[in-house]
Amino acid sequence: MKNLPILFLGIFFTVAFSWSGLILSSQIQYGGLTPTTATLDEDGNPTPGETLFPRMASGQAEQGKLIYIREGCMYCHTQQVRPQGFGADYERGWGPRQTVPRDYILQDRVLLGTMRTGPDLADVGGRPLTRSWHHQHLYNPQITSPGSIMPPFAYLYEVKEIEGAPSPNAVTISPDTEYAPEPGFEVVPTKEAEVLVDYLLSLKVDYELPEAKFTE
Ligand code: HEC
Repeated sequence: MKNLPILFLGIFFTVAFSWSGLILSSQIQYGGLTPTTATLDEDGNPTPGETLFPRMASGQAEQGKLIYIREGCMYCHTQQVRPQGFGADYERGWGPRQTVPRDYILQDRVLLGTMRTGPDLADVGGRPLTRSWHHQHLYNPQITSPGSIMPPFAYLYEVKEIEGAPSPNAVTISPDTEYAPEPGFEVVPTKEAEVLVDYLLSLKVDYELPEAKFTE
């Protein structure tokens, strides 16, 4: 074992090299990013009085994010919009501009995702999809998107007998479809389904940043 010091030196440099490449260089490039305004003043500072972006997510949306993680939505959905010219994200209507590192700085867990079995969700809250649409879709994707390969998340809903008046938040499902509950029953979202939809509706790329303007 006379080469032990060389072995340890080799291990040290391998670890140090990957650490500098992955962690240190990202920290130098992005570590100082802070929320900012859409345009900067002449000194390059955020314009006083204007709104800072990205916005903080609401507490409800943060809870919904935990359900999104638990249910593994990011195995099929990304949250990153590529610039126009790289893939067809813009043409598919997945966002009005590319996403940039600053969009993610307020998130403790960034769910970029790797697979696009379903559409990108970075800007899903910016699409004309209502709360009611999301509930129908999560309860059973076949209701809104026949032929979808997205699994149903019906266990986030309760099918219960209507007592007196129907619940105000019951999911609207046309009684003519096979997914409708039995007559006299209704489908009611659990707290988990409600916060999950709050999270989906909070995902919006509806603001510009100095480094990322809306695609022309
Ligand atoms: C097995 C892969 C898969 C998983 C897991 C999955 N989805 Fe999907 N999702 C899809 C596919 C495919 C579509 C497109 C067809 C459709 O609308 O159902 C889709 C569509 C969507 C849409 C509509 C987007 C749009 O712009 O039309 C939303 C919102 C969505 N999924 C949310 C979720 C959430 C939330 C979860 C986790 C609870 C989830 N998905 C889990 C595959 C998946």
